[in-house]
Amino acid sequence: MHTEVGGIRMGYDMEGGGEPLVLLHGFPLNRAMWRALVTGLRDRFTVIAPDFRGFGDSEIPRNPMSMEAYAQDVLALLDVLGCQRFALGGLSMGGYVAFRVMALAADRVSALVIADSRAEPDTEEGRQRRHAAVARIGEEGPAGYLEEFAGQLVGPTTRAQRPGVVQAIREIVGTPPARSLTAALSAMASRPDSRPLLGKVAVPSLVVVGEEDTLTPPSAAEAMSAALPNARLVRIPSAGHMSNLEAPEAFTRAVREFLMAL
Ligand code: MLT
Repeated sequence: MHTEVGGIRMGYDMEGGGEPLVLLHGFPLNRAMWRALVTGLRDRFTVIAPDFRGFGDSEIPRNPMSMEAYAQDVLALLDVLGCQRFALGGLSMGGYVAFRVMALAADRVSALVIADSRAEPDTEEGRQRRHAAVARIGEEGPAGYLEEFAGQLVGPTTRAQRPGVVQAIREIVGTPPARSLTAALSAMASRPDSRPLLGKVAVPSLVVVGEEDTLTPPSAAEAMSAALPNARLVRIPSAGHMSNLEAPEAFTRAVREFLMAL
């Protein structure tokens, strides 16, 4: 599905019935990465999964982006859909954006799920890596960068035992336009520190992390969960950064149990 939001086309899925749950995808994927979770929750929840600007079916950005601008797009889409209050989940970049939704509209969020993400900004080294990726994509196009990056997303167990998952990730990623990738990379590089926000999150929170996640490791998840006043931490064994795609059953169970207990 797609709809017009503030003059741009935004792609989204909305399925099921019951309390709304909004799911924010990781980079450089799109809402298709949530398929298993949507299927596993739609009997009890109205699951809404948008595509960030420039990904999936959403129009590519004309201007530079920021985590706040992605969050504003999400809130504007939810306004159009008449969704005032919702549980909010995000994986990785989706988590960075979820924190900005909290900063802009905490009163609309009834529960928070942060998976394979971190609250702190990039280190200087991380920022340099992003700038190098932007330069590489500008010079040679996205294909080589995407090929390399997709390989880092999963953990060693998935790489060795579930080659189909890496292929599925490549298919979900597809061929996003260079401008979408560079806008998101620059926005991630300049994202603010969300740590000051954590102590103020009054709603129940779930932090999920793949035990083999090297991009946003379990130590980052532990720090977030310790700083969130009302958080539960679930570690997913034998999964890396794409824990929802590498271990869909364990991931769905964790989110479902958390939401059903609210
Ligand atoms: C993601 O999965 O969204 C990205 O790996 C996040 C990042 O690069 O920081």
